[in-house]
Amino acid sequence: MKSNLYRAYLDNAATTPMDERVIEAMTAVMRETFGNPSSTHSFGRNAKGVLETARKKISSLIGAESKEILFTSGGTEADNIAIRSSVRDLGIKHIITSPLEHKAVLSTAEEMDASGDASLHLVRVDNKGHIDYDHLSELATSYPGALISLMHANNEIGTLLDVDRVKEIAAANNCLFHCDTVQTMGHYPIDVKTFGADFLTCSAHKLSGPKGSGFLYIKNGLRIHPMITGGGQERNLRAGTENITGIVGLAKALELAYQELGEELKRISDFKQEMVSLLKTEIPGIEFNGDITANGALYTVLNCALPPTEKNALLLFQLDMAGVCVSGGSACNSGAAKGSHVLNAIGADPDRQAVRFSFGRFTTMADIRHAVDSLKVILKSETVQA
Ligand SMILES: Cc1ncc(COP(=O)(O)O)c(C=O)c1O
Repeated sequence: MKSNLYRAYLDNAATTPMDERVIEAMTAVMRETFGNPSSTHSFGRNAKGVLETARKKISSLIGAESKEILFTSGGTEADNIAIRSSVRDLGIKHIITSPLEHKAVLSTAEEMDASGDASLHLVRVDNKGHIDYDHLSELATSYPGALISLMHANNEIGTLLDVDRVKEIAAANNCLFHCDTVQTMGHYPIDVKTFGADFLTCSAHKLSGPKGSGFLYIKNGLRIHPMITGGGQERNLRAGTENITGIVGLAKALELAYQELGEELKRISDFKQEMVSLLKTEIPGIEFNGDITANGALYTVLNCALPPTEKNALLLFQLDMAGVCVSGGSACNSGAAKGSHVLNAIGADPDRQAVRFSFGRFTTMADIRHAVDSLKVILKSETVQA
């Protein structure tokens, strides 16, 4: 039976609902373009044409050349290739990153360190999730030629990287620069010619596209070898028959994101501002994790630190029951629970429950109001015994 409960999906940093226009583009490919792009007959050539058109579209949206785009199974694989290939193929002996990175970066860099293939150096961060750029500069000076891997916007707290400063530090010290742009590609204009990174990562499912499809931008001239071996697909860089449907969905999703970027940026930024003021009015004592200034943070993410109360233990469950779908966590207080590595690294108050609201193309003001109203009701209600 279908429930009549109003449901506000405010977890777009985890994944986004797919856009109908993307589904249409993908289903057309499923119906009409089933050939293997490696086949030489007309079905294969058609599929190859569709694949290369998608690559061309994506590269033109970010100012890259087609040959700089390597299709992957998403952000995790793209991050892995950037880091592992840098160490294996590009002579990287030191990796400079931050304790706030997505696990796709952090765990990979930690593994490189543990295996002795490269040493890991963590840059200091402040309590809003900003990098200490002086420390980054010191590290880069101490380890010239290192790989600097820093995310463009943090997926938990939204704090943005000052890309220009990192670009300068990387250039001054002959470092490679990998930027995880999974949360920002399609949300901000990105032109690889001015961005200054050697590697960028993208994932379609953060952009109203399909899961399991993404790409790694690899700056022209960097010669890496395949992680997955077998056939000669992707110019010998990633073996395996290409996920054409997913790739077409990725290209369509990125195209739509850039076509609609101006309106969406304004619409969602306004929602976020409105939500901050509603929350400040309705939830006394509320604080926010990360930078919440317009220029300091991603406009699609708002991470709240709720005042300590015994209701926090069941809060996410109760929000879900009220039809508010969000992510949450907290810093660890006892060492018993691990908590969020991001909130731990910025020294967030472990007694405050963190709730991450994240917005997307289908978010409405009614969703925001429903979330704030539900939160208010839950926090005011009598404590429910677990
Ligand atoms: C910043 C960041 N990097 C990488 C990933 C991994 O992307 P995927 O889910 O496509 O593997 C995510 C997804 O949560 C992310 O937010």
